[in-house]
Amino acid sequence: MADGFSPIRWSDGELLLLDQTLLPEQQVWLHCRRPEDVAGAVRRLSVRGAPAIGVAAAYGLVLGAGDFDAAYELLLATRPTAVNLCWALDQGRVVRDRCVEAGAHTELRQRLLNWAGDLHREDVEANRRIGAFGRELFEEGDRVLTHCNAGALATAGYGTAIGVVEAAWSAGRLASVWVDETRPLLQGSRLTTWELSRLEIPHRLITDNSAGAIIARGWVQKIVVGADRIAANGDVANKVGTYPVAVLAARHGVPFYVAAPLSTIDRHTASGADIPIEERDAGEVVHAFGKRIAPRETEALNLAFDVTPAELVAALITDAGVLRPPYRESIASAFRDRDVAGR
Ligand code: MRU
Repeated sequence: MADGFSPIRWSDGELLLLDQTLLPEQQVWLHCRRPEDVAGAVRRLSVRGAPAIGVAAAYGLVLGAGDFDAAYELLLATRPTAVNLCWALDQGRVVRDRCVEAGAHTELRQRLLNWAGDLHREDVEANRRIGAFGRELFEEGDRVLTHCNAGALATAGYGTAIGVVEAAWSAGRLASVWVDETRPLLQGSRLTTWELSRLEIPHRLITDNSAGAIIARGWVQKIVVGADRIAANGDVANKVGTYPVAVLAARHGVPFYVAAPLSTIDRHTASGADIPIEERDAGEVVHAFGKRIAPRETEALNLAFDVTPAELVAALITDAGVLRPPYRESIASAFRDRDVAGR
């Protein structure tokens, strides 16, 4: 990962995506030639994590430049919670509109490709800034707990929460990482552990229901997770199971941090109650390792995300700095500064 690993590549007119459903056993790159290929990869979580979905969708628009509106709608309908998806698609539409206004239809694909490449690079740069801001919050010997996967695989590279972990580790401010396995699709045990192994950062895997016991023993000094969408008031939607960890953190006085770029903050969503929460196929809950693990007649509910109220979040670690409560003000001020700087 330190070598600039990205799960997304553009090569010879194709989008290559590292198929995350097959990790850690197999490293297979999917070749996407049509927006339908990208949409399918996003739906079945071959590419996942809010920033990675946004960048993959941007390249999906390049592949669908011939019928832009159809590609836009197709990609938008894949997953509802990660705001980076519509954020990227809307930017792509601005690129298209400007191209049309300039009468440069024949250049559309190339202009979209230039823009998608910029988005790709800017996400990695934003994550490195998040890492640099985040590491200052750590102290030597800290053990950190994380949920789901918010590493290089979930972004265009470097990662958000795991970017902070990597930066803290490199600065000698971290002892080890507790990794929640993250039922039902095991992003923690399959993906975060794979990344931490490659980074050679000490870590231990725990079942999600062990977090309380581990925190109660005083074995966790910091918690850091990523986000799929942060509302204007600082409420955070992230992988289901994040909210209980935040409640545990409050109970035991452990700082609960959320690491995310400004592109994950949705100023048009007032609070967590307004964030659409994806409900996935119940089959993901009643099956594990290709086998049914509940009686045939048992129905399951599979919420993919939950919402952590802003009051449980000690700080938002963003590419624009560490934002503290009250978040409505600190978020608005971060965007004002960014707009003034013209970025
Ligand atoms: O369903 P997933 O695997 O896409 O969910 C991913 C998460 O919840 C991540 O924590 C979030 O997208 C942040 S990724 C930097």
